[in-house]
Formats: sequence, structure tokens, C-alpha cells
Amino acid sequence: MRLESISKTFETGSSKVVALQDVSLHVAPGEIFGIIGLSGAGKSTLVRCINMLEVPDVGKVYVDGLEITALGSRELREARKKIGMIFQHFNLLSSRTVLENVVFPLEIAKLERSEREKKGKQLLELVGLEDKQDAYPSQLSGGQKQRVGIARALANDPKVLLCDEPTSSLDPQTTRSILRLLDAINKSLGLTIIVITHEMDAIRQICDKVAVIADGRVVECKGVIDVFTSPGHETTKAMIRGSSQIDAPDWAVEILESSAKSADRRVVRLSFVGESTGRPVISSIVRDFGVDINILTAQIDHIKSVPFGVMLVELSGNGDEVEKSIDFLRGLGVTVDVIDDMSDFVTKVNGG
Ligand SMILES: Nc1ncnc2c1ncn2[C@@H]1O[C@H](COP(=O)(O)OP(=O)(O)OP(=O)(O)O)[C@@H](O)[C@H]1O
Ligand SMILES: [Mg+2]
Repeated sequence: MRLESISKTFETGSSKVVALQDVSLHVAPGEIFGIIGLSGAGKSTLVRCINMLEVPDVGKVYVDGLEITALGSRELREARKKIGMIFQHFNLLSSRTVLENVVFPLEIAKLERSEREKKGKQLLELVGLEDKQDAYPSQLSGGQKQRVGIARALANDPKVLLCDEPTSSLDPQTTRSILRLLDAINKSLGLTIIVITHEMDAIRQICDKVAVIADGRVVECKGVIDVFTSPGHETTKAMIRGSSQIDAPDWAVEILESSAKSADRRVVRLSFVGESTGRPVISSIVRDFGVDINILTAQIDHIKSVPFGVMLVELSGNGDEVEKSIDFLRGLGVTVDVIDDMSDFVTKVNGG
């Protein structure tokens, strides 16, 4: 899937909103590609341009080698079968049963009834809802409704699945189960998945690559591990801070503020990936540089299945030695961000 220099402006009455500006993206086949950004950044508009629910003002969209933006309406209808979509609020038809919802796209495609039912039942089995085929949406939990949405989106055997905040209405546990399902479908069907989310945790769990959108532009686009270990743009940094990755309690903020004023104390954020996740590095700094380490917060997590650790630490000792120990850490492949501006942490703790 490829976007080439897409722009989109909405005009309502006298006002103009530039939703997308010169957006280019490449999503490799079989990839799970995340799109994050603040509310109003243009994420939904971007994803809706992929299946032409929004028509870009300029730019080209390619799906599976075909230029979608060049198609007539009949060809576009055919091409759209290869692009499934799921939504935050599921968008199920309430007067239809689960099975009837799932096979709806096949009805439109004029598939025979017996064929439709056979396919529908297979899909319900795939999403783990074979026992709910005759239930109505109102009788289902949110997670079950999203499973129906996923089964319906897969009815035409799409190559690409677009997901616009698929877990934003779900609790954390259900969110995980839906993300696991998307991951399993990606693997078993080789389906390309593009998922909008504002939850960095969702990105961390299933995405291979991430694009960060701010004010209608792609401000950062990289592999998921790189995004967490070396976020470049302010929006990215803010979203990572806002997730569970790092959180400074009140007492830590006081230390942060006092060490900011002192030359031989530095607060740094260390990110470790893979095997280097850890302690030997810390102990050798204490030993070889005579630098003391005060761990303010620490967390070990996984990005997909790779171990990933973040620590917020205060280094104190001779100023030169502190600098040398930072270089030493970087030499080992640890990402080190020196924190000189405490205001982010302060506003966060004060409820900002
Ligand atoms: N149909 C429309 N008519 C007018 N303006 C629109 C339309 N759709 C989107 N916009 C505007 O375009 C901008 C981008 O909207 P979009 O829905 O793509 O953002 P988003 O990143 O998905 O936000 P959210 O996280 O809140 O869903 C916003 O300023 C929005 O108000
Ligand atoms: Mg949106």
C-alpha cells in the first residue's frame, strides 16, 4: 500500500480545514502498520483516503499495485473488496443476526446463499464466535461486536484491513484479546493491517512500523522499536510519556528539579532493547566511573516479543565522569536521553 503526496482540505461554508498535507507512506505487504497522533491530526482522513471514502484533492493511492485514485466507479467498487475496514463503534446492523452481518458484503457481491453461509460460518470460527451466529448485536459484548466487525471485514478476502481505533471503546483486557486476534489474522492470512490508535500500548503490542501524524503531516515514520527508543518528534515523545512507559512520581519530580540545577547531577532516560536489558551496564558505571545511580523509575516491557526496558535515573558524581558514563552507555547501544527540561514531568504529575 502506498500513498504519494496526498493532500485533503475540507471546506465547510466559509472555513477551510487542511486535514492532510503532502502525505506519503509506504506500507509493505503483510505488515502491521500503526498510525498515531493527537485528536484532529488527520488520522481518520488519511485512512479513509486509502479506500476512497474520502477522495484526496491531490496525490495517488496504490493498493496491491493498483492505482485506486485512477479508477472509475465500477472498478473502484471491485477494488474496495480488497480493502476491509473496522471501526471504533463497530457499525453493525442491529436488525440483523451476527451471521447476517458477516455475510452482508457477500450479499452485495451477489454470492449464492449456501456459499455465503458457508463462508460466514468459517469467518465466525476464525474470530471465535461460532456459537453466536444467531444472536443480535445488542446481545453481544463490545469485544464480541468487534469480532463480528472483523469477520465482516474479511468476507471478501481483502489484502488490506483498515482499522480506525478498533479498541478505543473496549476495556484493557478486551483490547488485548482483539489485538491478539488482529495479530493472528495478520500471520495466518498474510493480511496487511493499518491500525489507527492513540494508545501507544497497542502500537507496542502488534505493530511493525509506526507513522506519527501531526497537523496533517507525517512527522515521524519508523520501526516500532526505534519509535520507543529514539522518538524524534515532540508529538511522539509526548505520546510515549503519556503511555505507561515512563511516569515520574511526585518525589521523583523534586529530585529532577534539584538535579537540573546542579552540574554534576544529570537525570537521564535509558532505553534498553533486547539482550542488553539491564543491570550489568548499571553496575559497571558505578564501578568504572565512580558515578552513582539513583533509579527513579524503571519498567521492563515487551515490544512485540522483544524485551524492552526504560529507566529514569539520576547520575551523580564528577561532572566529567558523568559525561563519560553517558558516552559509555551510548557506546553499548543504550539510548540515553538527557532530561534538562523538567516541565513535562511537572505538568504531568500536577494533572496536566
Ligand atoms: N467531513 C469533514 N468535513 C469537515 N472537516 C472535516 C471532515 N472530516 C474531518 N474534518 C477535519 O479534518 C481534521 C482531521 O480530522 P480527522 O478526523 O482525520 O482527525 P483524527 O486524527 O482522526 O482525529 P480523532 O483522533 O479525533 O479521530 C479535523 O480538523 C476535522 O475537524
Ligand atoms: Mg479519527
